[in-house]
Amino acid sequence: MNIIKVTDTKMGGKEAFNIVKNDLENGAKVLGLATGSSPITLYNEMTSSDIDFSNVTSVNLDEYVGLQPDNDQSYHYFMKEHLFNKKPFKNSYVPDGSNPDADAATSDYDKIVEDNPIDLQILGIGRNGHIGFNEPGSPLDGKTRKVGLTESTIEANTRFFADEKDVPRFAYSMGIGSIMKAKKIILLAYGENKADAIAATVDGPVTEDCPASALQNHPDVTLIIDEAAASKL
Ligand code: GLP
Repeated sequence: MNIIKVTDTKMGGKEAFNIVKNDLENGAKVLGLATGSSPITLYNEMTSSDIDFSNVTSVNLDEYVGLQPDNDQSYHYFMKEHLFNKKPFKNSYVPDGSNPDADAATSDYDKIVEDNPIDLQILGIGRNGHIGFNEPGSPLDGKTRKVGLTESTIEANTRFFADEKDVPRFAYSMGIGSIMKAKKIILLAYGENKADAIAATVDGPVTEDCPASALQNHPDVTLIIDEAAASKL
């Protein structure tokens, strides 16, 4: 794994943006995108750039089950707010959390993932090492699934909701197997509360206990992390 240490999230966004820009200039056509606070500075760099994304397709990692796309807590809404409203893509895919039929929603999304092989995947990481919403215990070769969120993830995400009971308990998430098929991966992590997860990702055994540890088996992963997230390496 390549590790780029940055002083703050703004610098992290710039470093990630340089990789995105370079890959697009070299023919990348499909970006895998993530939600959460970590990619926001990257998206800011993208929206303030002069890059035209109208020939680029995006495929997002995950969505809460039960939220309509226009719900302001949905990941559909997040992506529009932070990126797509300012920079429209050719096609932008996010799992359909409004579809209560999990088999249909996940197999539809797998078809999208298969039809749009990801050139560059952006990832954040949960405090427990989750990527997308693949919580500890998720199969390291899995496809898109309906997943139950752990208490620690629900608690971490409560800050975005009016009340803890409003946080959805389930999500549709691209699987780790699909994430691993991306040609290149950038993982962004900032802050001390990511330090254990980053240490387990880089130095720990490859295990379902830390889903991001699977990235050790990927040939082209770059971690962009601040000193606090790197403090246990
Ligand atoms: C959520 C998302 C993940 C994201 C994680 C960390 O669980 N499903 O994709 O990586 O939050 O978010 P943050 O970057 O806000 O710490």
